Amino acid sequence: MGSSPRSRRSCLAVPGSNPRFLEKAQGLAVDEVFLDLEDAVAPLAKEQARKNVVAALREGDWSGKIRAVRVNDLATRWTYRDVIEVVEGAGDRLDCLILPKVQDPAQVRWLDILLTQIEKTVGLPVGRIGVEAQIEDARGLVNVDAIAASSPRLEALVFGPADFMASINMRTLVVGEQPPGYTEGDAYHYILMRILLAARTCDLQAVDGPYLKIHDVEGYRRAARRSAALGFDGKWVLHPAQVAAANEVFSPDQDAFDQAELILAAYEHATGHRLRGAVMLGDEMIDEASRKMALVVSAKGRAAGMTPTKTFEPPPE
Ligand code: GLV
Ligand code: MG
Repeated sequence: MGSSPRSRRSCLAVPGSNPRFLEKAQGLAVDEVFLDLEDAVAPLAKEQARKNVVAALREGDWSGKIRAVRVNDLATRWTYRDVIEVVEGAGDRLDCLILPKVQDPAQVRWLDILLTQIEKTVGLPVGRIGVEAQIEDARGLVNVDAIAASSPRLEALVFGPADFMASINMRTLVVGEQPPGYTEGDAYHYILMRILLAARTCDLQAVDGPYLKIHDVEGYRRAARRSAALGFDGKWVLHPAQVAAANEVFSPDQDAFDQAELILAAYEHATGHRLRGAVMLGDEMIDEASRKMALVVSAKGRAAGMTPTKTFEPPPE
């Protein structure tokens, strides 16, 4: 799991051009909200959307959520003004910028340098605003290791299935679903795994992208379970109906969380008090590798606000 303690089980996309959605999003129980200036906003609405986003960050109540803004990608003419207007206008209310369609590490470094310039100019602490990089095409995936290592501001790599499928000519129009005719396995497995490995190598979080059939909550749950099982930290949500499923699928269940906490306590007792490297917990032998697996589950649960419901009883000496 990434070093960031911030949970990203559910990351809600909100079009920056829609004041009603910007208002409504504040009441949803998501871990992250991102106010979008990119693909959910029509070209003619981009400039007004920047103003809406600054106002929503300044005036809205986003407590308990990571506050992010997705700027336009670097092939457009909008990116630099997106960054300047949003960070000058509401940088003190912003946790993260999302850079879409990242194709090589120089693009993240560009954003890092621009952020530093603005932070110095307006007197914000340098380096506090993080970055999430979206991997959305073949070039981005081929360069994903270098992208993951490109800046200390990076907090997460995010898969963008819609753009990605278009970029590689995958034969489906249903974003997040398997292409018809592909019955051999999971068409996303390689891509997800590639992003996950790059993220973990650099201690970043890995976030799965959108599922566009917003009323098919079972379909969403199925897609979310797939990436959660691999180790992903969360998934985008586009609609209130998807929120509870994301939070549930990407949290450990209470039994797994309790067991992880017991393993950590038992292992600490064994190594600290009894100077043993392996010990029995119930009918299971636990060692340093068990501790590492338990740490992952424990960190995810704690980041999601869970508390243990069992206490460790040291065995008699
Ligand atoms: C998200 O940006 C996607 O392209 O899926
Ligand atoms: Mg995209």
